Amino acid sequence: MEPEEMEQLLQKILQDFRNTSSLHSGLNYDQIKSRLMPFTLDEPGGIDAVVKAIDAYLDTSVNTGHPGFLRAFWGPSEPASIVASLLTDVRNTTMHSFAVAPSATIIETEMIKAISDLAGFPGHGIFTTGGSNSNEMGFLCAREDALPGSSVNGLSGQNLRAFSSVEAHYSVDAAANMIGIGTDALIRIPCIDGKMDPQALNEAIIQEKQNGNLPFIILSTAGTTVRGSFDDLNAISEIAQKHGIWHHVDAAWGGAALFSNKHRNLLNGIEKADSFAFDAHKMIGSSMVCSAFLVHDESILSRTMSHTNRGDYLFDDPNKELSLGRISPQCGRRADALKLWFSWLEQGKKGLGERVNSCIDASKHLAHLVEEHPQLILVSFSFSNVCIRFTPHSNETIEQGNQRVRKVRNYLEDHAKCMVLDSILDNQLVIRFTASHPNVDKAATEEFLSNLIEANEKISL
Ligand SMILES: Cc1ncc(COP(=O)(O)O)c(C=O)c1O
Repeated sequence: MEPEEMEQLLQKILQDFRNTSSLHSGLNYDQIKSRLMPFTLDEPGGIDAVVKAIDAYLDTSVNTGHPGFLRAFWGPSEPASIVASLLTDVRNTTMHSFAVAPSATIIETEMIKAISDLAGFPGHGIFTTGGSNSNEMGFLCAREDALPGSSVNGLSGQNLRAFSSVEAHYSVDAAANMIGIGTDALIRIPCIDGKMDPQALNEAIIQEKQNGNLPFIILSTAGTTVRGSFDDLNAISEIAQKHGIWHHVDAAWGGAALFSNKHRNLLNGIEKADSFAFDAHKMIGSSMVCSAFLVHDESILSRTMSHTNRGDYLFDDPNKELSLGRISPQCGRRADALKLWFSWLEQGKKGLGERVNSCIDASKHLAHLVEEHPQLILVSFSFSNVCIRFTPHSNETIEQGNQRVRKVRNYLEDHAKCMVLDSILDNQLVIRFTASHPNVDKAATEEFLSNLIEANEKISL
């Protein structure tokens, strides 16, 4: 492909950027597949084949910039982040060694310091493949901290135990699975109003110690997936310190509040944790993925990633101490930090904070409307998450109420009105709304509400 042709294709893609006309194609798997075909060619298809493929992809993929895209914690990428992503593609940088990624290494290091600064952390960490991986990194560092040398010697017959709330994200189970302790070694602590109960946590730790097991990590959540609630980080840090256990905060979702002067207090106490996860690809709008794992102890990452001592052919340059590959589980790694860098430069902390404020304002507006509506029950509102149920019809059982929620959600999605999640909260299915991108403004929440009411009236049970 000639550079001019590439420019032409990029223009074509960017023209679609502001298009929010339809949410999704409404096509099923087979229809989408046949629209996308062919997937391979024996003979060169040239630029025309690529143009057709771009059209097919734009026609059949979900438009995350649509104001009705309410299903996830992300929406369309920030323009500055798209530019950064393209820049890293053009130079095709990989992050393992300073020698091949000098500027990207410095940018990542400075972004780690900048995020750390907002949280009162000293400035150490690494960009990862996402919040799930950042949580897993927390588990790995905690294991090395509890069992020094375990990255080399393994678990030495110890039964490690991890603790998180019942409302923590499923990546905590993934972390337990992937570090080899198994998901049964994760003790899920009950919540009070969506927050981990510190007393129950303390008792569970004491119990596990009495059982001869080794508690090694408490994972608290700042911004839970369904309810958007924030665990009491001060209280949990105190318990962690008392028992000598690593405290990791999953701030993948709620970490965006670090940028907002108005909502920063949600994260009070984060500075006392040992590590935390932060996703810039959620409310901050960086394109997928842009996630950081931050730690207090500078030495823990190199101790945990001791296997990188074997990568001498990569790390034998004079600046090997600067090579971020030495503290990452990845070898090839994208220069994701540039995406946050460009957005931060363009919008400043102030602009990114306003983005967070406007998402929360939109959700607050919806929460008020739901509270006042006779057909709806506001189950919870925290951060940008609004959980909703329908006022039960007379003699309607919980199960029938659950079916109503599921049918409404499907109706809204099938009719391309909006895409929203449903999820179990306190044993009942709820509609979970979140505003995670600026196209979800107050007008969009009103549109969502009227669609919700219409769907509730139209579905037949
Ligand atoms: C609280 C929480 N932690 C972690 C994750 C996982 O993040 P990622 O999708 O970046 O792996 C999510 C995803 O939504 C989340 O809600």
